[in-house]
Amino acid sequence: MDKKFSWVYSEKAKDHFLNPRNVLKEEGDFRYDGKGIIGNIKCGDEMMFVIKVDRKKQIITDCKWKTYGCASAIASTSMLSEMVKGMSLDQAYQLSPKDLAQELGGLPEHKIHCSVLGAKALRAAINDYYRRNGMQEKIEKEQAQLVCQCKPQAQRLLHKYLEKHFGNKINIR
Ligand code: FES
Repeated sequence: MDKKFSWVYSEKAKDHFLNPRNVLKEEGDFRYDGKGIIGNIKCGDEMMFVIKVDRKKQIITDCKWKTYGCASAIASTSMLSEMVKGMSLDQAYQLSPKDLAQELGGLPEHKIHCSVLGAKALRAAINDYYRRNGMQEKIEKEQAQLVCQCKPQAQRLLHKYLEKHFGNKINIR
């Protein structure tokens, strides 16, 4: 195959894209304690992440997700869904897109923003869990509600977010 058409993803990222873990088939089949939805269905990039929580230990015991995002969003959220099981809610909340990209053996630079979708949907699910359980003080406000390249406001917030986690080298197209 011509090199310019060859895969640009790591073997691990390819595996998670082609065999995604913990995908939510039917919402009714999974009883969850928190649900987060991020993105904008109008432009196609939407992500839902649901979590089950051990209330005594405040640990994520199980999770599922589904998305209309691209290969990078699928691979990174599949990876995320494996990483968060057994983590405390506080630990899981701190996971960044950079952690996901590293765990996948890297992502193409112009696709790193896709891994933000899963991380943000997870945080929204954690906040939803806190909300449902009267733990308002634990809710940390997310800076952006949308991760959507066709919305200038969301784009600016996304740039700020990526700059914080990746430095100023990231170029979003
Ligand atoms: Fe929209 Fe990757 S999730 S381009």
